[in-house]
Amino acid sequence: MATAVPLSTKYTLPILGYGVLQVAPEKAPEFVAKALEVGYRHIDSATMYQNEAACGEAIRASGLPRESVFYTSKSPPDQHGYDATVKGFEASLQKSGLDYIDLYLLHTPFGGKEGRIGGWKALLEAQRAGKVRSIGVSNWGVHHLQELEDWIQETDAKEGKGTGGKISVGQWEIHPWLARKDITDWCAKHGVVVEAYSPLVRGLKMHDPLLKALAEKYGKSPAQILLRWSVQQGFVPLPKSEKENRMRENADIFDFELSADDMKTLETGKYETTIWDPTTDTS
Ligand SMILES: NC(=O)c1ccc[n+]([C@@H]2O[C@H](COP(=O)([O-])OP(=O)(O)OC[C@H]3O[C@@H](n4cnc5c(N)ncnc54)[C@H](OP(=O)(O)O)[C@@H]3O)[C@@H](O)[C@H]2O)c1
Repeated sequence: MATAVPLSTKYTLPILGYGVLQVAPEKAPEFVAKALEVGYRHIDSATMYQNEAACGEAIRASGLPRESVFYTSKSPPDQHGYDATVKGFEASLQKSGLDYIDLYLLHTPFGGKEGRIGGWKALLEAQRAGKVRSIGVSNWGVHHLQELEDWIQETDAKEGKGTGGKISVGQWEIHPWLARKDITDWCAKHGVVVEAYSPLVRGLKMHDPLLKALAEKYGKSPAQILLRWSVQQGFVPLPKSEKENRMRENADIFDFELSADDMKTLETGKYETTIWDPTTDTS
């Protein structure tokens, strides 16, 4: 968990995160505190999860230096454009009770081009004001990413290099049943670090024969095989668990390596989403 990946900003992102989707606000301080105690230094929240205040509370109460914990939140998924994103970001910051947020993502690509570019401008402003260190997107398809990248290039050309900002991080549902090669290839080409959400396939594949065979071969759990696959692909997985033993299990993945052949067996070629798929949005 000590290892981190450099971002296009001067900051680094711990390569394993703790996700808090569906962690009830009243339980979140306890679980986030436990995750920090176990050793996680990267917490992934969002406006939608309704536990930003609880995450901030746990981070502040941990006694850890603020710099040592990487905290992510995301814009309201159903509100787009400049004004709504300014408001959403300010609310996230205020609820966290932190001086700054490490990473803020536009949660969805909905809202059309105006909504997406307006949202990005709001994040750029927050970044310039030092309220957020790195910015990015979540659930954007290649067509959305390229639209923003074109706007960034045009803005840089008109107003000076760097004025359009940089997409430092992108977050998508990614696991062996949803590898999203089109998106991850685009990110590799453009220096965007890829975070993998639902890296445990929300617990739905733990009895899959493919996974069980690998778990037996390596003497690891199916969850550890999935997380190892993610890390070896170069992704930053964000497993969620409310159980301390699983938090530990999910973090205990740095003492083994899947062979190239075994990585290949996990190329299922499937496109199985488990939660939602805004990447296909055509607004
Ligand atoms: N940007 C987005 O749109 C988006 C969407 C979804 C998720 N995310 C982020 O990604 C994080 C993770 O995704 P997720 O919560 O959807 O799913 P996930 O991490 O793939 O799976 C979580 C499920 O797996 C169980 N689990 C955890 N560790 C396990 C283990 N070692 N063995 C067996 N089961 C285990 C958990 O149960 P217990 O809690 O009971 O252990 C829970 O039911 C979220 O919390 C959130 O931060 C982002």
